[in-house]
Amino acid sequence: MTKLWDPYGTGNRPNPYPMYDRLREVAPVYRSQSGDIVVTGYQEVKTVLLDHETYRVGNRYEWIERQVRYLENREEDLTAIMAAMNSFLVQMNGHSHKTTRALIVDAWDNKQVNHIIKNNIDDLLSEVDGEFDLIQDFAAPLPVMTMANIMGMPLKDYQFLKNQTSNLIFSLDMYTSFKTLVRINEAAQALIGYFNDYITYRIKNPSDDLTSKIIALANQRDLGLTNDTLISICIFLFMAGEETTINLIGTGAHNLMLNRDQLEKILNSDQTFDDAIDEALRFESPVHLAGRIANSDSTLAGIEVKKSDTLTLCIGAANRDPRQYPSPHLFDIGRKAKNHIAFGAGLHFCLGSWLARIQWKIAIKELFNRFQNLDIQSEPEWNPMLSIRGLKSLHVTTNQ
Ligand code: HEM
Repeated sequence: MTKLWDPYGTGNRPNPYPMYDRLREVAPVYRSQSGDIVVTGYQEVKTVLLDHETYRVGNRYEWIERQVRYLENREEDLTAIMAAMNSFLVQMNGHSHKTTRALIVDAWDNKQVNHIIKNNIDDLLSEVDGEFDLIQDFAAPLPVMTMANIMGMPLKDYQFLKNQTSNLIFSLDMYTSFKTLVRINEAAQALIGYFNDYITYRIKNPSDDLTSKIIALANQRDLGLTNDTLISICIFLFMAGEETTINLIGTGAHNLMLNRDQLEKILNSDQTFDDAIDEALRFESPVHLAGRIANSDSTLAGIEVKKSDTLTLCIGAANRDPRQYPSPHLFDIGRKAKNHIAFGAGLHFCLGSWLARIQWKIAIKELFNRFQNLDIQSEPEWNPMLSIRGLKSLHVTTNQ
C-alpha cells in the first residue's frame, strides 16, 4: 500500500504534488507514522502560522540540539551547529524574536538596491552565451552577490560563502542524517570563523552597510548582544535569502519557458509582471515545508494535537489546495494569486520578501530581454532538499 506521507518515496522528490493531493484529500491534517502531524490544507496551514499562542517555532533547533547532545556522549562534537543557529530569527520565539526582528527591520533602512542587483546581473550575463546552466551560472551566484553587497562583505568572498551556506541550510531540512550533520557542522565552523572576523572588522571600521547598522543599533538600544549572537543573526540573514531566491528565479524561468505566451505578456506589462511573481511563488513555493511545535493540547481540523507534538506545514501543498485555487496544477499568471503563503504569515512573515521580488523581477527581465530565444535544452534536475524546493541545474540555450 502507498504510504500517505512518504517524502522520500520514488518520484516524490521531483514531483511531490500527487502525494500532497492524496494526503490532503484523506486528511488535510494527518498524524503520520512517525507521530509528526503533517498539514497540507491551505486554511489549516494558515491557521497554524497565525496562531502564535498555540504553536511556536524552533523544532529544527530543538531537534538538532537533541542530536548534538546525544552525539556528545559518543564524543562527536557538533556543537558549532547550535552556536551558528542559536539566534536564527526563524527559530526564535517571544521577546527575543520581537527585539531581534525589530533590530533587523529598523537597521535595514536602505532598500534602494536595484543598481546593486542590476550590476551583478550584468556581470553574470556577460559571462554566458550559447549553452549554459541557468541555475549554476546565473540564479545561484546572484542572491549571494546581492546579500554580500548589502551586508558589506567583499565580493571576492561570495564563492566561499556560497559553498558554506549551501551546506548550513540543511540544518533547516527534515530527517538529517549523521553524515549530513557532520557536513553542516563543518560549514557552521567555517561561517562562525568568517563572521567573527568580519564583525570584529566592522566594529572597528563601520560603514554604510547593513552589518555596521545592525551593530550600531544594537549598541544604541543597549540590547547587550554578545558577539556570538551577532554572528548567528548575520549568518541567518545572509543565508535566508539565498537558496529561496535561487529557486524562485530557477523554477520561475523554467515555468515561463514552458508557457511562452505568458512570458510574452509579462515582458510587455509591468502590472502583469507582478502577478507573475505571485503565481511563480504559489506554483513552486521555494519554502516547501515549515515546522511548528504545539504549546498546549488543541484540535486542528478535527485532529487532536497534544502539547509538544511537532507539525510539518506543507506550504507547497497549501498553495496548490484546489479549495483555494481552482485547477491548482496549472501555471496561470492570470489567476492573481495574491493570497499565497509562500512567504509565510503572521509574526514570522518573511523579512526579505521585498528583496526576493525585486531580484526576481530584474533577473527575469534582463535574462529574457537579453536572450529572446532562450529555451530549455534538457530536463532539469531537482535539488535534494525537502524543505527548500528548487532546481539544481537547468541547461538552456540562447540559440534556436
Ligand atoms: C523567494 C524567496 C523567499 C521565500 C520564498 C522566503 C520564504 C520565507 C518563509 C516561508 C518564511 C517564514 C518561515 C516560517 O514561518 O517558519 C521566511 C522567513 C524569513 N525570511 Fe524569507 N524567503 C525568501 C527570501 C528571503 C530574503 C531575500 C531574505 C533576506 C534576507 C529573507 C529573510 C527572511 C527572514 C530573516 C525570515 C525570518 C523572519 C522571522 O522569523 O521573523 N527571506 N521566509
